[in-house]
Amino acid sequence: MSAQQAKRRIGILISGRGSNMVSLIEATRSGQLDAEVALVLSDVAEAPGLQKAQELGVEARAIVPQRFRTKLTGDDAQRYVDALKEAGVELVCLAGFMRVVKDPLLGAFPSRILNIHPSLLPSFPGLHAQEQAWSYGVKQSGCTVHFVDDTLDGGAIILQRVVPVLDEDTAESLSARILAEEHRLYPVAVGLILSGRYKVAGRRVAAFA
Ligand code: GRF
Repeated sequence: MSAQQAKRRIGILISGRGSNMVSLIEATRSGQLDAEVALVLSDVAEAPGLQKAQELGVEARAIVPQRFRTKLTGDDAQRYVDALKEAGVELVCLAGFMRVVKDPLLGAFPSRILNIHPSLLPSFPGLHAQEQAWSYGVKQSGCTVHFVDDTLDGGAIILQRVVPVLDEDTAESLSARILAEEHRLYPVAVGLILSGRYKVAGRRVAAFA
């Protein structure tokens, strides 16, 4: 792609602090990702990540759903589709977006919506995954980037990174170690998907050189 051609455009959906969003924006600025974050959307009007995105010069706004608290569907999802399409987004990254994404958003971006989850899926899906792992007593946890389907954290796995659970860990210290790894992993996974250098066979996503 020549320098004159438009950059690939990413949309990010958040509900909270947006640290993974920042790591993706920074990856586009450093050149790690040959893409730009075109739009950040939040379902929570006061999400701190919105202001962080604006401070970084990225268009960011809330679209607060009218219905349901834990899923995004129907007219509410269509408003997200309209905003993302208008911004020319080709890949949507969920980054702490606290709703299960349903149609019409899912169908509008087939195999083009990613999520990051703070455990080694399929262990510990859902909320408070780091605390679940710590309480269970596993010796290793980590993070997962996966395609989004209409299940809770159940889409095909793209990349995972392992993080040790130390004897002296608290749920908080484990969460912090996993989060640092999330910030490294998400840009790598986005780069892989943007490169197209992967194939999907059933649930298996394999990168090729
Ligand atoms: C991260 O742990 C992510 O894996 C999970 O929600 C958290 C979001 O954190 N889905 P942040 O908003 O990116 O800081």
